[in-house]
Amino acid sequence: MTAAIHSEKFLILDYGSQYTQIIARRVRESGSYCEIHPWSMEGVAIRRFQPMGIILSGGHRSVYDVGAPDLHPAILELGVPVLGICYGMHLLARARGGQVHPSKKREYGAALIQPVPGGTYRSPLLSDWLADDRQVWMSHGDHVSSLPDGFVATSMSQSGLVAAMESLTQPVFGVQFHPEVDHTDKGAVLIDRFVRQVCGAHGLWTASGFIDYEIAAIRSTVGADHVVLGLSGGVDSAVTAALAHRALGEQLTCIFVDNGLLRLHEGEQVMATFARHMGVKVLNVQAQERFLERLVGVVDPEKKRRIIGHTFIEVFEEQARQIEKVRWLGQGTIYPDVIESAGGKTGVATNIKSHHNVGGLPERMGLKLLEPLRELFKDEVRRVGLALGLPKEIIFRHPFPGPGLGVRILGEVRKDFAGLLRQADHIYMEELQSSGHYDKIAQAFAVFLPVKSVGVMGDGRTYEYVVALRAVTTRDYMTADWYPMPTELLKKISNRIINEVQGINRVTYDITSKPPGTIEWE
Ligand code: XMP
Repeated sequence: MTAAIHSEKFLILDYGSQYTQIIARRVRESGSYCEIHPWSMEGVAIRRFQPMGIILSGGHRSVYDVGAPDLHPAILELGVPVLGICYGMHLLARARGGQVHPSKKREYGAALIQPVPGGTYRSPLLSDWLADDRQVWMSHGDHVSSLPDGFVATSMSQSGLVAAMESLTQPVFGVQFHPEVDHTDKGAVLIDRFVRQVCGAHGLWTASGFIDYEIAAIRSTVGADHVVLGLSGGVDSAVTAALAHRALGEQLTCIFVDNGLLRLHEGEQVMATFARHMGVKVLNVQAQERFLERLVGVVDPEKKRRIIGHTFIEVFEEQARQIEKVRWLGQGTIYPDVIESAGGKTGVATNIKSHHNVGGLPERMGLKLLEPLRELFKDEVRRVGLALGLPKEIIFRHPFPGPGLGVRILGEVRKDFAGLLRQADHIYMEELQSSGHYDKIAQAFAVFLPVKSVGVMGDGRTYEYVVALRAVTTRDYMTADWYPMPTELLKKISNRIINEVQGINRVTYDITSKPPGTIEWE
């Protein structure tokens, strides 16, 4: 099988910008493979990578700071096009003999840029893109105060500072603003122009190209061995399973553990999709009692998480040991997880993964890891999933935490509480789906509050439990805003829950953003 999808690749060097991942996503959206590496990547590695083009990210430092991240000479020696963004532009300017200074008038946030007045030079990168004024996003206090020899300014900001520059002799470009972020009008088009027009990439990075490539790779890696994989009902493990199944057929066994804390019909949906529809071998393990017994009397959220996590590993291991010739553990690790752990960061994403991972298991069982999605961003995972024929309900599902309803029942987890929450959550999801709001929300769910309040229904007084509804919009789950749910819809959901779920007589809507709240209540 051809390795064409990787034959045109871009190198993104990270100088510490919060937007570096977005640059990579834009390059992928342009149809080219790219990888993010730290700015300190060695020259040998840069050459071995054989990039078709290099993008230097922004960063918060000043190029003259002692110990500030530097530009490796190999970057300009390769002769491939280089685009420096913000700090990356400053590095290029300084490396070629230009000067960078703190701006007197700092340009932060939205700014207008324009073509150079009276300029006649036609930039291969900017010309058609910048026919007139354009709104961009700036986020640095320094600017290029003196252009290097052989460079021209290709755009100026409203306050007369160089907003973009390029070399007349080499394909070297710099932009003071951030084309990768949404706040820059048509910024993605500029990155696309760099990738396709300046560098001449052909858009080889496609879902079907990836699938063909990965199927061949999985087959040659795994050989005649057997792979075991934990299905969680989430997107990443679902797509991993579908891909591994295409490649390996009977050599793949999936394990789906019902821990008693799943959403309504979740187990049936997973079995219907994978076992019945796709013919994947799935062991459906009914372990509700084991999980729920261990949670009796436990109220501390972190303790609940630990118990659920450990019990999951225990159940998974028991099952996996029974499968013959198992040498591999399939996992739905995706590119943001790889970047997070490479950076040694301890952000939310790393945390999330540790709950999904069957941590420690590979070493104990002598298993090797098979992670076919480790090069993909979430939107790419979704595209691959759709191309593999997985249903939209699975592909576009909101994320669900590993401990499931266990962290959405505040305090002690009880079977009857889980039953009530499951019903309320299901009604909530049904209404969001049918009203068209589900896809506008990043994550929505109901939370069970184990307190009783007084109500009145018909002629009688009620004294029952409370359910809170949560819905947030977010890009990265690190910060989030509560969703402005239409009042009529809230009314309908509340009525349905109170009428249909016996045991709930009050519904509230959570209007806390993150920060200061978290998305989950525990
Ligand atoms: P928080 O509540 O920290 O959630 O704002 C951010 C994202 O992480 C998910 N989350 C978890 N996922 N195990 C998981 O697998 C967990 O213990 C866990 N806690 C939170 C949460 O659903 C949201 O998407």
